Amino acid sequence: MKQVVVELGDRSYPIYIGAGLLAQAADLLGPRLSGQTLVVSNTVVAPLYLDALLDGLPDITSRTLIVEDGERRKTVETMNAIITRLLEERFSRTCTLVALGGGVIGDVTGFAAACYQRGVSYVQVPTTLLAQVDSAVGGKTAVNHRLGKNMIGAFHQPAAVLSDTDVLASLPERELRAGVAEIIKYGLINDAQFFDWLEDNMDGLLQRDADCLAHAIEVSCRNKAAIVSRDEREAGLRAILNLGHTFGHAIETALNYETWLHGEAVAAGMSMAAHLSARTTGFPESDVRRVNALLEKTGLPVTLPETMRREHLRELMAVDKKTRHGRLHLVLLREIGKAVVTPDFEEADLEDTLARYAE
Ligand code: NAD
Ligand code: GLY
Repeated sequence: MKQVVVELGDRSYPIYIGAGLLAQAADLLGPRLSGQTLVVSNTVVAPLYLDALLDGLPDITSRTLIVEDGERRKTVETMNAIITRLLEERFSRTCTLVALGGGVIGDVTGFAAACYQRGVSYVQVPTTLLAQVDSAVGGKTAVNHRLGKNMIGAFHQPAAVLSDTDVLASLPERELRAGVAEIIKYGLINDAQFFDWLEDNMDGLLQRDADCLAHAIEVSCRNKAAIVSRDEREAGLRAILNLGHTFGHAIETALNYETWLHGEAVAAGMSMAAHLSARTTGFPESDVRRVNALLEKTGLPVTLPETMRREHLRELMAVDKKTRHGRLHLVLLREIGKAVVTPDFEEADLEDTLARYAE
């Protein structure tokens, strides 16, 4: 088993990564499950892994709440259903929530934990690759509003993260590749050596080789933990975790969140960020080619659907959360392994990048 710690003083917490960890849940999570426990999962994940998790926690009497699957359920209504259950069961402030699922379950359960009686403890048991390398780590919790994704939320760190790599066996191929997009992101923004490793080991990762997966998850978590420890609430540095996301969110919104997965949109967005970086920061053209080659090798998109219009994308990019005083800030690459967040790019260069990808 591998272990990474998110260092946040007295709120520091461990991330456990390895095969067969659900069976060890009592040892790993038991000490962190104070008081009453509610496990929240969904209609896809619960039939697969809820029993294994509960069997791994034989001395803990847990309640369970199973919600419908899907991003459309990442809402205040689902959060309220969790809170209602906690109240019905007379859960006190010493209770713990357990999020068993992908990023949707993790985000909504974490947000319910942040709000219930002004904040109770929770642990993450992420079951998608994306959740194991990104959403379960770092304490961003949120639900969507009709007018915007992740617009209602809180920073609330979990007490522990348990990532059992065995559960990735049942993950659909497309979801796996979408998770790899976020893994590639860590190489690009912070870890050139890891990017080299990904170039050499992508086949193993896509074949779900256990050692490759555990290594990629560990290094991704190490990179994210280092950034979150330095800038928990995104005063500056943490924004580099959004490489490709300003373009990506615009793509997702333009497609109504229906046809592309988040990781796919981020992949195309990272390709666009690399293109713009070459025009702005001196990011070498040879590295733009490396970025696109690795994304393509992963089976991720580096072009946009033909229906995409560049004026529409530009308009959608303007509502990005990184906009400061009306000026859009973008995450760009100086070199592989080094990202910057900057408002210093020429509008004409951005137009050039948009024109390269969309009509
Ligand atoms: P998801 O939670 O919707 O999971 C994807 C699909 O896989 C779902 O149908 C799910 O039920 C299913 N699934 C989950 N585990 C499975 C398994 N082991 N086997 C088979 N099927 C399984 O999506 P996601 O990609 O995990 O997360 C996306 C969400 O995460 C978005 O809402 C995004 O905003 C959020 N997110 C949050 C952060 C953060 O820092 N909090 C970071 C990145 C993304
Ligand atoms: N997923 C971006 C962040 O956690 O900051």
